[in-house]
Amino acid sequence: MSNANGKVAVVTGSSRGIGAAIAERLASDGFTVIINYAGGATEAEALAGKIEQGGGRAVTAQADVSDAAAVARMFDMADAAFGGVDVLVNNAGIMRLTSVADTDDATFDSQIAINLKGTFNTLREAARRLRNGGRIVNLSSSQAGLLHPTYGIYAATKAAVEAMTHVLAKELRGRNITVNAVAPGPTATKLFLDGKPKEVIDHLTRLAPLERLGQPADVAAAVAFLAGPDGGWINGQVLRANGGII
Ligand SMILES: NC(=O)c1ccc[n+]([C@@H]2O[C@H](COP(=O)([O-])OP(=O)(O)OC[C@H]3O[C@@H](n4cnc5c(N)ncnc54)[C@H](OP(=O)(O)O)[C@@H]3O)[C@@H](O)[C@H]2O)c1
Repeated sequence: MSNANGKVAVVTGSSRGIGAAIAERLASDGFTVIINYAGGATEAEALAGKIEQGGGRAVTAQADVSDAAAVARMFDMADAAFGGVDVLVNNAGIMRLTSVADTDDATFDSQIAINLKGTFNTLREAARRLRNGGRIVNLSSSQAGLLHPTYGIYAATKAAVEAMTHVLAKELRGRNITVNAVAPGPTATKLFLDGKPKEVIDHLTRLAPLERLGQPADVAAAVAFLAGPDGGWINGQVLRANGGII
């Protein structure tokens, strides 16, 4: 590991799953990483310790992304500790699968609050504060294209995230900041695996021509490309990292 690039990356929802893999990957690429989480303090601290032990640099930051004031405080902390932020990865998200007919208000509202308002909250701070030359990567989902039954509300939040990605890329003209989205397919994390019968997991695993589930590190590699030097000419795009499922 090296801290060669000296840049600072905020990764929301990085106490576990895809976000944790992104934090680890960016740390090994030389970023100082801010590991954001809402509830999983123990996991976030463990990950920060692992990164530090490996020679990387990481701190944790508790903030529920749906809380605009908490998000602003997290960016204040980053400014105070590191002098600014270069990369924002909007990874925090939840998924609740129900048909439109069976979705109650709380289920709808929670996905809007975290996936959509949460992404907006961090994008607004980043649009105001990110250092010139920075990068923003939003996590969408291949379900924004697959549109399977029961994914309606979740896919709608991710379609909205993709729309903000395209608009913000244009709004940041003149600051040399790119804004892209990575849209994973089925990936082996708690979000995907919890509550699904084995037959459903097996079916979704076989759908992609590469015939396996994505691993968090597969998605982290796509994010690292967009956040790193080789991704500099990619702007306003959605990269579906999914083994070819769509
Ligand atoms: N796994 C897939 O198949 C898949 C496919 C396509 C897209 N995605 C997207 O990829 C992203 C990561 O998903 P994952 O599969 O890694 O999920 P996961 O394993 O459930 O992890 C979600 C992370 O988000 C954090 N989080 C949840 N609510 C939060 C909030 N309000 N504020 C801050 N952090 C919060 C969680 O931390 P705490 O619980 O500690 O707060 C956790 O670290 C999501 O945006 C998801 O929609 C996943």
